[in-house]
Amino acid sequence: MPGRCLVVGSVNTDIVLAVPRFAMPGETLLATGVSVIGGGKGANQAVAAARLGAHVTLIAAIGGDPFSDLRYNELEQEGIDLRFLIRVPGLGGLALIECTTEGENRIVVAAGANAALDVARVRGAMQKLELCSDDVVLTQLEIPLPAVEAALCLAGESGARRLLNATPWKDEATELLQWCDVLIVNALEARQAAGVGGVEPIELVATQLVERVPVVVVTLGAEGALLLTERKRLRCRAPRVPVVDTTAAGDAFTAALAVSLLEGECWEEALRRAVWAGALTVGRAGAQPSLPFRRELEQAIGTAPLILERW
Ligand code: RIB
Repeated sequence: MPGRCLVVGSVNTDIVLAVPRFAMPGETLLATGVSVIGGGKGANQAVAAARLGAHVTLIAAIGGDPFSDLRYNELEQEGIDLRFLIRVPGLGGLALIECTTEGENRIVVAAGANAALDVARVRGAMQKLELCSDDVVLTQLEIPLPAVEAALCLAGESGARRLLNATPWKDEATELLQWCDVLIVNALEARQAAGVGGVEPIELVATQLVERVPVVVVTLGAEGALLLTERKRLRCRAPRVPVVDTTAAGDAFTAALAVSLLEGECWEEALRRAVWAGALTVGRAGAQPSLPFRRELEQAIGTAPLILERW
């Protein structure tokens, strides 16, 4: 693989509570299990891309707490380049995740150290990396928006392709859309980014977004995903798989898309791989433990190639 994958994003520790259903406001509910595992959209995407064979560098901020030590060690074991990871005093990012028996989740994130990732750090690291047009930069919205903007702008200056997984969506991120080449969002985020309500067909929402970003990808969970460019309108149906936990499915999807770009794959193949990567992830519990390795992805694609439709 000629290019490198640079991820500029968050590192979290996920505290996952297994619950029979989501608690109602004011209700106390007993969890049936708890696990503490590596997460954060930036770290998850870095791990997923590394497991799919990319050379990955992560620019991120972790805390001075024991959880952050664990996160550092895990990321190092995945073979990710951590030269530009900064450590700040206090807690690292924390996510409280409720996961139901149906595999649905609800996530609340406390930024912790992620809030310390600033423009100067991102700029300094990216200047040292000397990116080029073979490379891909992947970022999300769990870090301060000026850091995201700096990552996208510097990537653009170097000719690297810029992927923005715009989650969790915030309206102030609208300005960032002009700096990315590929926007990856779920259906809710697509509506938020387009500034439309819940009644328009998602195809129409995606069509509005592609007027602002060259490539728009909308993940649709069990329904698969849409990919739009000025000339292409693709839909890939997801394989039917048992759902254990949907956490990090979007991260696996996004990383697989990035790795396909690094490998020079066409959009059709990139979309197929991304949908399969997401599907493999929902079959297992937790964020990073559920992310697939390349051989699993290749085996899955070989046994059940996915159907692409044009619309
Ligand atoms: O995308 C899943 C991730 O979202 C979790 O790992 C959690 O940390 C939050 O960032």
